Order: sequence, then C-alpha cells, then structure tokens
Amino acid sequence: MNLFSEFIQNVHFTGDPIFDSYHFLRNNQLPLVADHSRRVSEEANRLARVFGTGEKKAEIAGALHDISAVIPNNQRLSVARELTIDVLEEEAAFPMILHQKISKVMARDLFHVTDLEILNAIECHTTLRSHPSVLDLIVFVADKIEWDQQGIPPYLDELKQQLQSSLEAGAYAYIHYLWKRKDKLKVVHPWLAEAYFENVRR
Ligand SMILES: [Fe+2]
Ligand SMILES: [Fe+2]
Repeated sequence: MNLFSEFIQNVHFTGDPIFDSYHFLRNNQLPLVADHSRRVSEEANRLARVFGTGEKKAEIAGALHDISAVIPNNQRLSVARELTIDVLEEEAAFPMILHQKISKVMARDLFHVTDLEILNAIECHTTLRSHPSVLDLIVFVADKIEWDQQGIPPYLDELKQQLQSSLEAGAYAYIHYLWKRKDKLKVVHPWLAEAYFENVRR
C-alpha cells in the first residue's frame, strides 16, 4: 500500500471503483488514460449485455484495467517485484506488459475489488490467456475496440465483423492480427502464445 501512497494524496475515495478510478487517473495527470478507461468500461458494459454476463463486473474491470498507468515503465519491474508479482522472463525484458498484473494488485489493494473474475480479467487484458472466461474476453475486446491511440484501429473492421458470430471470434481476430506481426513485437508474451495456439488447434 505504501508503494501507492504518493498517488492517493489528493484522491477522495467514495467506495465506488468506477467513479474513484476515473478521478484517481485524472488527479494523477492522466486524463487520456482516464478517458480511455471510461470508454473501455462503457464498451465492456455494452458487450456484457450482448453476450449475457454481469454488466457491473464488466464495467468495473474496464474502469480499472489500466489503473497502473500511474507507474512509469522504468519502475514497473521493481514495483512488480516489490508487490511479489510473479514476473515472467518476457515481462522483465519488456516491462510495459507488466501493467496488467500491477493493475490487478491495485484494483484489489487500493480499490478493494475482491471479485476474482474481475481481477483476472484485468490481469490478462493485454495478452488474454488460455481458457479465458467470458469476462476476460469482454475486457480484452473492449480494450481493443476503444484503443488508447490516435485514429481508427487497423484491425477494427475485422474484429467487429467476427464479433457478429461470437465473442471468441472477435477476440481471436485481434490475436491473429497481432500474430501476423509478431516479428515486430518486442516480445511475445507466453499467455498470448497460449491463447493463439489454443485457438489454432480448434
Ligand atoms: Fe492496458
Ligand atoms: Fe487499455
């Protein structure tokens, strides 16, 4: 908790993780991440309604998925180790991807989210994982639809088209897009590889 004390000084916690996380990000000078997270939260809610799972859980996971953006890249490895997070070789080599695991810990310890389904969906929102839950898929897909970069995502049409047939198909449309470019990725996270091969074998 002390690790995060510098980030919570001007934040008033109401107990509503959606409201609190938005203000937490804004108070820490991350208005773009705050807006991205709000859009992901809304999209996750929409997808939850379409695919029949808990809308509130989806909304909370979406709001908190990038909450660790307050920790700069060059501190993510040391912070993760201090939090006793299991750091994989690929994550040590490219600490940006550690943000999904740090966000999970912050959601739990700072925003008091205890629901494991929500915490797990936050933890794999960048890479997915093998045997993903419906909520894992929803947060993963919502984050890709409402991406945090300028312009229209190059994979968006294909993803949306595949979503018409199923949530899994939508998620894997994006994974296949990434896989085609995997030589350009800094590292291939093993969870992403597992999700990819699991789908290819089907
Ligand atoms: Fe993220
Ligand atoms: Fe995100």
